Amino acid sequence: MEDRPINHSLSQTETPSLPEEDKSVLQIWGRTPLHGHVKISGAKNSALAIMAGALLCPQDCRLRNVPSLVDVKRMSQILLALGVKLERKGDILDIDARHLEQSKAPYELVSQLRASFFVIGPVLARLGVARVPLPGGCAIGARPVDLHVRGLQAMGAEVQIDHGMVHAYVGGSGSKKLKGAKIYLDCPSVGATETLMMAATLAEGETTLENAAQEPEVVDLANFCRAMGARIRGAGTNTIIISGVPSLHSVDYSIIPDRIEAGTFLVAGAITNSELSLSPVVPDHLTAVIAKLHEIGSRVITEEPNCLRIVPGRIRAADIETLPYPGFPTDMQAQFMALLAQSEGDSVITETVFENRLRHVAELNRMGADIRVKGNNAIIRGVPRLSGAPVVATDLRASAALVLAGLAAEGKTSIQGLHHLDRGYDNLEVKLRQLGARLQRVQDEAEVGQVSADPSKVTALQPE
Ligand code: EPZ
Repeated sequence: MEDRPINHSLSQTETPSLPEEDKSVLQIWGRTPLHGHVKISGAKNSALAIMAGALLCPQDCRLRNVPSLVDVKRMSQILLALGVKLERKGDILDIDARHLEQSKAPYELVSQLRASFFVIGPVLARLGVARVPLPGGCAIGARPVDLHVRGLQAMGAEVQIDHGMVHAYVGGSGSKKLKGAKIYLDCPSVGATETLMMAATLAEGETTLENAAQEPEVVDLANFCRAMGARIRGAGTNTIIISGVPSLHSVDYSIIPDRIEAGTFLVAGAITNSELSLSPVVPDHLTAVIAKLHEIGSRVITEEPNCLRIVPGRIRAADIETLPYPGFPTDMQAQFMALLAQSEGDSVITETVFENRLRHVAELNRMGADIRVKGNNAIIRGVPRLSGAPVVATDLRASAALVLAGLAAEGKTSIQGLHHLDRGYDNLEVKLRQLGARLQRVQDEAEVGQVSADPSKVTALQPE
């Protein structure tokens, strides 16, 4: 699950509560132009799925370009709890799942990371039994897993859910193998596509996933499984066909660059009127994001095959509707809302993927934005300038949006709720500081008191 369960009755204006231990504050002094080049890390949503996919293999797997994130650490803890051996060296993660014996994932870990539910497919395919807690709801929505469960049932699994635990097993007397099936997904769920694709790699027979998710992270997972010997066709389209094989073998695999981190830095250039370059990237993974930045008034240039450069322009209003890939990504919605908050004119952002992913509106309004929420629409009236303020992040991408707003705002912004940011961004502050941003993380603003007016005198914090 993305975040700890929260009281959904919070009104738009109430400040979300903070976990006790997370008192650290990110202080940003805005309106400093950025410059230079930033290195993009491996994709979080690929790494998490591929770490689950490594459970399919009874031999060593080496993953490269693995980002340094709290969510990756949490997924590592879950794999360890299942009996897997892991070794991390820089951005390399060695996984040895030959002794996968524990079929039960611990609640206290799954409840902190929704993506860990995806292990149910590989564990069930390897052991014939899997017990994984329901991930539950989170800050951005109810996050059901009915499509995962129904797909596994279609492949012959018996599934019972009680006391918050999903118990799945493959028929008693018969073979412990899942059976290939034709599965139609009611919605192109990324996680359900990944769970079922992984489960099908070791099933008997052929599985077809129709209305499958087409995200680049799904393709990356498919390529990883194929590198282990799986037989998968059609990943990246809405129909994926998997022909089961008896077992998979070792692989040394490099994860794709994070398109959402790349998109976040492109918006950082646009919102601070700064020219930036970033690599490595896969430009084709950012088509919708680049098209929207052009519409809003920036130019994004592809340099060499894996480098993008943003040349900012005046920020014009634009409408955005989030959609499954290749549509505009919901994971970039909050960041673009921060950008459009300072545009000339009125914009409408419609969030169609998650039912509760507009909670950053209240925090942006505290910074002087003029945004109203009507259902799943945010109506944004552009203002000339945001102003720094104390704000609280409500989820991962909302925290990125508040950082971007802080970079553009007049004065100082103090952001709490940094546990959200640390889940999904690899040393964001270090990367921004290297681009010239004036920011620092302090343990507790109240205790530390006001920092000197000019943070450039403060020594840069070392990455964790
Ligand atoms: C993945 O979440 C990503 N997370 C999310 O990124 C991303 O926002 C999302 O896909 C959509 O692109 C990871 O890959 C770890 P979904 P996932 O299943 O798989 C409904 C980030 O910020 N649904 O595609 O959980 C669901 O409620 C995170 O990096 C069902 O109804 O998303 C939602 O409305 C946030 N039943 C819609 O589908 C199911 O069984 C899309 O969800 C499953 C999903």
